[in-house]
Amino acid sequence: MAEITVNTFHKRKQANEKLVMVTAYDAMGAAAAFEAGIDILLAGDSMANTALGYKNTLPLSMEEALFHTAAVKRGAPEAFVVFDMPFMSYQISDEEAMRNAARAIKEVHADAVKLEGGADYAPLIAKLVHAGIPVMAHIGLLPQKVKTSGGYKAAGKTEDAAKQLLEDARKVEDAGAFSVVLECMPAAVAENITNTISIPTIGIGSGLGCSGQVQVLTDVLGISSFTPRHARHYAEIGQIMRQALKSYADDVRLGTFPGKENSF
Ligand code: KIV
Repeated sequence: MAEITVNTFHKRKQANEKLVMVTAYDAMGAAAAFEAGIDILLAGDSMANTALGYKNTLPLSMEEALFHTAAVKRGAPEAFVVFDMPFMSYQISDEEAMRNAARAIKEVHADAVKLEGGADYAPLIAKLVHAGIPVMAHIGLLPQKVKTSGGYKAAGKTEDAAKQLLEDARKVEDAGAFSVVLECMPAAVAENITNTISIPTIGIGSGLGCSGQVQVLTDVLGISSFTPRHARHYAEIGQIMRQALKSYADDVRLGTFPGKENSF
């Protein structure tokens, strides 16, 4: 597969070719996604819920995110890997944000960082890009703001809210972001943003009009205990895992494992 760089994003949008992104949290998932031809791996902060058992993304630390992103990069060294900045790793000050984003690039060899925020984060995005760190912005439903929004609510449902999202998208583009995630907004709002700005949009729960799509790996594979409306299971791996583990336990208890072929 040809190497993906930030330039690929621009070219794909111009050629009207969809970008495919999926989250990855460890070496095994990253290798499978890369071998399947997925364009971009997001070491998403959803690792907090999916891989680490937290209730939401807020508790995820920089150290945990770096540890998992390093594993993703080891599993798929040639993949374009986006490091998702954890809650409070970029909100306290621009200086702290720069230092944390630099750790993602220097210590675990991420290719870019993602942060949740629109116009309000444009000055920080500009500083990061100026320093040489590619930034993917993320607007719409912002899971890191779940406490202030009072839940995971779709965004951009009123005319004013839709206008604000367009303004956010324009501002992150002007600041130098190479792409922007549009999470859970009406398809028409996402399509309008996609047609207005020049950088590619990566949708999740935002319809077909985006330049690409992102999904959470455990949703695609059917491992999650809860399936959000924006997701589709492409397999029922959770069920297969439980069945395989039950068969193994049954065999051990019945004395049918190990067999002669498994013994030395
Ligand atoms: O961490 C994540 O899974 C994400 C996607 C929902 C875009 O940020």
